[in-house]
Amino acid sequence: MRAIRCHAYTGPKDLRLEDVPDPVPGPGQVLIAVEACGLGFVDGLHVQGKYQVKIPLPFTPGSEAAGRVIALGAGAPAELMGKRVAGFVMGGGLAEKALMPAGGCAIMPEDFDPTAAAAALINYGTAIYGFEDCGRLEAGESVLVLGASGGVGMAAIDVARGMGAYVVAAASSDDKRRAALARGAHKAVDYTQADWRNALTEALEGRGLDVVYDPVSGAWSEAAFRSLAPGGRHLVIGFASGEIAKLPLNLALLKRASLVGVDWGGHVRAHAGEGPRLTRRLMELAAQGKISPRADSVHKLAEAPAVIASMLARKMIGKPVVTPQA
Ligand SMILES: NC(=O)c1ccc[n+]([C@@H]2O[C@H](COP(=O)([O-])OP(=O)(O)OC[C@H]3O[C@@H](n4cnc5c(N)ncnc54)[C@H](OP(=O)(O)O)[C@@H]3O)[C@@H](O)[C@H]2O)c1
Repeated sequence: MRAIRCHAYTGPKDLRLEDVPDPVPGPGQVLIAVEACGLGFVDGLHVQGKYQVKIPLPFTPGSEAAGRVIALGAGAPAELMGKRVAGFVMGGGLAEKALMPAGGCAIMPEDFDPTAAAAALINYGTAIYGFEDCGRLEAGESVLVLGASGGVGMAAIDVARGMGAYVVAAASSDDKRRAALARGAHKAVDYTQADWRNALTEALEGRGLDVVYDPVSGAWSEAAFRSLAPGGRHLVIGFASGEIAKLPLNLALLKRASLVGVDWGGHVRAHAGEGPRLTRRLMELAAQGKISPRADSVHKLAEAPAVIASMLARKMIGKPVVTPQA
């Protein structure tokens, strides 16, 4: 089968499309024909060996996949055979076939678009876990999404809107702000401007700021935290700026505000069943028409290294998905 292979932690430029033997499912695993694999900033970290969990070399990147089950390992439930599933794979998704833990497979409705499933798995799982479980977001509250036109940001806009929040998107260019507004943000601000907190105040139209969704960090984190209303929650999602912000803790006291770490991957690894629960919840919200998960761009397998490079260079808009069978 064809697969993208990483032989050194030297970044996307050294990724190769190669012919490799088909993986063989071990106990408790299934083999899927990968119809779609979502890409995220995290894949750029994996291929540089910069993520908190290092995947041993050589490996195939790609952590979220959707496809049809074509073989079962020992002990995998027979009813999964032939089903279309979506799930988390710790590497392996950028290939024509991939292994998935049977316990992590969420069965998809036959008519659910696999590119939407692969686009949604991690980013919507993170947004649903972040807003519902960690941030206790309520309808009518306001949300600021940093890095709003990225894959994580776009999912956050859609989920927060679906929960009835007023959403302000922060992004660095006109094109990115337009994309965030098209995804459903009520207002967008240019957070590269020195006075962007004034623009945020205007965009909130008299509301306080209840929740910050922060996949970017750096200097933006403290500025956003300072903008919170009393009782606000700042959700720490990621560090796409490459800089881990430090926060004076007196701000938390003065604001009676919370800083909450949101780690979807850590949560689903620590609690068996949570991955599929969050995926079922996203299918449920999608079926109710409250959210519209989708891929923002679809790419061939050979294009995956360039897509990862583009994310690392801050050039990508939205969530890219690769379709390895195309
Ligand atoms: N906590 C979790 O469970 C979880 C789950 C998934 C992902 N994440 C993390 O969330 C972060 C975002 O992931 P993503 O897939 O949404 O990435 P992405 O699509 O590349 O978006 C990241 C956004 O960050 C902004 N940014 C600011 N400085 C940047 C820089 N120096 N380089 C690149 N982007 C920069 C960019 O927007 P502007 O140009 O508008 O500033 C960009 O749109 C990553 O750190 C990822 O590891 C966390």
